[in-house]
Amino acid sequence: MKPMVLRTAPELRGVLDSHYERREAVGFVPTMGALHEGHAMLLERAAEECPVTVLSIFVNPTQFGPNEDFSRYPRTLESDLEIAESRGVQYVFAPEPEVIYPPGYSTFIEVAGVSEPLCGAFRPGHFRGVATVVNRLFMLVRPQVAYFGQKDLQQCLVIDRMVKDLALPVRIAICPTVREADGLAKSSRNRYLSAEEREKATVIWRAMEAVRQGFAGGERRVSPLLAAAQTELGKVSQFRPQYAEIRALPDLKAIENIEGPAALAIAGYLGQTRLIDNLVLA
Ligand code: PAJ
Repeated sequence: MKPMVLRTAPELRGVLDSHYERREAVGFVPTMGALHEGHAMLLERAAEECPVTVLSIFVNPTQFGPNEDFSRYPRTLESDLEIAESRGVQYVFAPEPEVIYPPGYSTFIEVAGVSEPLCGAFRPGHFRGVATVVNRLFMLVRPQVAYFGQKDLQQCLVIDRMVKDLALPVRIAICPTVREADGLAKSSRNRYLSAEEREKATVIWRAMEAVRQGFAGGERRVSPLLAAAQTELGKVSQFRPQYAEIRALPDLKAIENIEGPAALAIAGYLGQTRLIDNLVLA
């Protein structure tokens, strides 16, 4: 069945109220559209675990910096709806910006600590925009479970922290990263890559592999592990790294030795396209 597309908060409430009355769990997958198999995997998980699945598609202006790709972010509603239908989504919430940020909107959520390093340092205000929109979407959709991809690990950690701090009645499910055959994490932004850049983009995967091997071989000191990553990243001169760091989970504190859960996180540019990825070292 084709999913029902809802544009406003009253429309959304109108269809969801009957599900709440019947105590049916609502699974929620927030996205910015331009759906690919990474998103599809989240939708499948939601449909497996919850009788009702809501997908939101909203390119959130508050999480883009002034020189970022907000206006050229891909918008592909028709094919998104086909993917949603194929994964059994009942409802697609696709609001206009005024629905999420009505005139006079003034409340923003800052998650200190975990949102500050890594992407937080290179994209000021990004996680404030993410936390704000996700909280607002949670208030409108009122899901029991919300599904996020490990591809955006810091985003997962920020949202998890927010949910705990605000005692929001929602469970956060973090799902593994879906990759292309050569290891590149699927991303809506991969479509910006030229054929040559697309080939080079596997450099991040190779850097992560180098760290995975070192870690599997027993290395627990951060600096030799990162040196191995840097060696791989340096092999592709077109890749302009922003950061390659190993930090503790779940607070993303800086560490010198891996003594508990940790993650390698990498971000950088290939041409005009910003790529991120991460590897959990547990
Ligand atoms: P978007 O980039 O569209 O991603 C929506 C969800 O899909 C996120 O939870 C993201 O981590 C997940 N995802 C993306 N690529 C993935 C992959 N290759 N494997 C697994 N999961 C993947 O993230 C956002 O949108 C926004 O910041 C949002 C949370 C919707 C707030 O605006």
